[in-house]
Amino acid sequence: MATHNSLVLLVDDVPQNIQVLGNILKNQGYSFALTTNGKETFELLEKKTPDIILLDIMLPDEDGFSICSKIKSNPNLKHIPVIFLSAKHDIKDKIRGFELGAVDYITKPFEDVEVIGRVTNHLQAKLDRDKIERYNHKLEDMVEQRTKELIIKERESILAQFMQGVIHNVRGPITSVANGMDVIDMMKDGIEQHISQSDIQSSVNDELQEIWELNKLNKEKLEALLKDLKSMLKKSRTDHNEEIEITDLNRIIEQEIDFLNVDLEFKNLVTKEINLSTKPLPIKVITAEISQLFQNLVKNSMDALYQKPNKQIDIETGIDQGFAYFKISDNGPGIPTELLPRIFDPFFTTKPKESNEDTKAPTGTGIGLRFCKSTAESYRGTISVEKSQIGGACFVVKLPIV
Ligand SMILES: Nc1ncnc2c1ncn2[C@@H]1O[C@H](COP(=O)(O)OP(=O)(O)OP(=O)(O)O)[C@@H](O)[C@H]1O
Ligand SMILES: [Mg+2]
Repeated sequence: MATHNSLVLLVDDVPQNIQVLGNILKNQGYSFALTTNGKETFELLEKKTPDIILLDIMLPDEDGFSICSKIKSNPNLKHIPVIFLSAKHDIKDKIRGFELGAVDYITKPFEDVEVIGRVTNHLQAKLDRDKIERYNHKLEDMVEQRTKELIIKERESILAQFMQGVIHNVRGPITSVANGMDVIDMMKDGIEQHISQSDIQSSVNDELQEIWELNKLNKEKLEALLKDLKSMLKKSRTDHNEEIEITDLNRIIEQEIDFLNVDLEFKNLVTKEINLSTKPLPIKVITAEISQLFQNLVKNSMDALYQKPNKQIDIETGIDQGFAYFKISDNGPGIPTELLPRIFDPFFTTKPKESNEDTKAPTGTGIGLRFCKSTAESYRGTISVEKSQIGGACFVVKLPIV
């Protein structure tokens, strides 16, 4: 029996009681310790933790009630069950013992069956409680460990998503700056030729003007990129309210179109119809975020048109029931109905991950539209997609007017 490995503490000073109880416990195979007064009892409790205490009421230095209440008010000892040894007729003592936290009493003169039954029951109950407590501790440790692991994983995933977002958002502007610089490089040869023929000074001036214009745009683009990076980093930390400003949506779109024109393919090979609202469209936003949202959508349209000979992109702004909106339509292949529910999911893409030298097919990570959606929604706005009038996809972003 599991209870037989337990330690019973007997607190009594009457030799006859000690002998009778000691024999009963010994015969049952219990190990037991003996103390005969309060002082000894607490000295022993400093060194050993018995599994049950059999406590007499009448002791020379301190009575059993006082010892019991000290045990029950000590956090390290209070879990030990105490059984009082009481005279048969003394009801008051029994009640007092229960009030002080005793679990039971054994009446004198001691009967083997009664002593064994009560001690065994309470010991078993105590061992069961200990087992449950150990199990609970183990569970708590496991939960704590698991929670720590989950927090670490969650942080890693947020960090990974954030890094991907940063990379995604800087790639577009850096590419257009690089394209602009390529153009300057190409023009350099022309300028050198012109200069060698000194009679066409005026045409040199025209080309120089174009270079300065391009450089100005490139610089603006880089500044926008830095602002964007700054806002992304700030956002990843805490509050970014101070970045929010009231801006006219038309101004953001106009500026973005200027930037887009740095890209010669967009400038020369795409037919554009631009219809900006004549009314102001005041919105309260982080400008860099809306610029990025617009760039992502135009980039998607350009990707969709990459094989199309007659490319067209239409841009429109306006007001609709308290919302400023902009629409970007293209005449690409559009989005197949079965893919519509998935296009805003993180990492959903139909584009290859790696570029292919032969096909030059655009690559994708599937973060663009996810970013657009969470940005629009962070301003209580919406993004939706419909079939465009010119054949392909039409994305509509709505942001509340202030
Ligand atoms: N204008 C569009 N015409 C056709 N399909 C589109 C258009 N815009 C988005 N899609 C589809 O939605 C998918 C998800 O777009 P999203 O911008 O989220 O990712 P991506 O462009 O593939 O990659 P990236 O993270 O580089 O933007 C695209 O892969 C494409 O299949
Ligand atoms: Mg995209």
